[in-house]
Amino acid sequence: MILPNENIRLLRPYEPGEQPQIAGFIKLNTNENPYPPSPAVLRALKQSIKDRLRIYPDPQFRQLRSITAQRWRVSAEHIFVSNGSDEVLRLIFQCYLSPGDSVAGLFPTYTLYETLAQLFGATMHYYELDDDLRIPEALFKRVPHKIICLSNPNPPFGTFYDTELIALICRANPDSIIIVDEAYVDFAPKHALALVKLFDNIIVTRSFSKSFGLAGLRIGFGIAQPHIVEYLYKIKDSYNVNVMAQIAAIAALQDIRYYRQIIQNIIASRSHLIKELTKLGFNIPPSSANFFFARWCENARWIYEALKRKKILVRYFDHPRLADGLRISVGKENENKKLITALKEIVKNEKKSTKRTKTR
Ligand SMILES: Cc1ncc(COP(=O)(O)O)c(C=O)c1O
Repeated sequence: MILPNENIRLLRPYEPGEQPQIAGFIKLNTNENPYPPSPAVLRALKQSIKDRLRIYPDPQFRQLRSITAQRWRVSAEHIFVSNGSDEVLRLIFQCYLSPGDSVAGLFPTYTLYETLAQLFGATMHYYELDDDLRIPEALFKRVPHKIICLSNPNPPFGTFYDTELIALICRANPDSIIIVDEAYVDFAPKHALALVKLFDNIIVTRSFSKSFGLAGLRIGFGIAQPHIVEYLYKIKDSYNVNVMAQIAAIAALQDIRYYRQIIQNIIASRSHLIKELTKLGFNIPPSSANFFFARWCENARWIYEALKRKKILVRYFDHPRLADGLRISVGKENENKKLITALKEIVKNEKKSTKRTKTR
């Protein structure tokens, strides 16, 4: 039997959240958008399905790049379009890493960075957030890593770090590629795109999966200075982003008003959920994403399981630093209501049974 390379044999694959195969679940476990895409997106997809499927997609994404460039006030040469933002992350790692290099990331953060580092024979070096979720001082000095990954907002807490802090890291580390993963930035107060003009070692990555509700189509993009973008084009698959994904993304960008509204709804629901769950006894750090991390006073697996029995899926991480909490994506209003009701019941029953055990 021929074996693959050692790093592939030893690779710990990324574990995505569960996608239930039966209907009826309230899905608050993978940070998808609970609202449908804009009606303009659905119309554009319907109109194109007959004529466009037999033809290859534009490998240069000219129309989408031009609209994206206008929207974020950069030139088209700064934009690389990818099969979900995960693809642009993988291509950056492939471009810049050699076996033996290291990659820096906050801890905790998006776990795909570690999988990608292993895939290209590099090691992951974590900079652990303190109890207030602040970035460790060491990262503001020069560090010996080829790539530094900064997700902003950062999962699983949804913490937002000010652009000034990111600029400090870029300034201190001119020999590293700094990835600012802004998959959730549309739910946050600011973005870091201005830094692309200032630093030639930064790439900001964006997703159409979250705020634009197109997770199923797989489309994202990266914005960086042209010398980085050109390398990404050089190594991508010829047709990495399918026709329908490009059509949907163009239509979505042409209907920004719709998306502003659903983003506002999600932000308002996030505040409401955090307030209600805090009343129930959860401790929730501030979040600037479409999810938040609800901490319980002990291991929270039982709450995850109790919710699952009620057909509500949230995310539980079996890790010492995260096992006391649940990452919960913000849903539609009726879903959030059901979550609050379910949690009230679960917590009440737990309090009753603890009281019984104590009085026995
Ligand atoms: C921080 C972060 N970056 C990137 C992604 C990937 O997004 P996409 O669907 O665009 O590949 C995710 C997905 O959950 C994420 O949490």
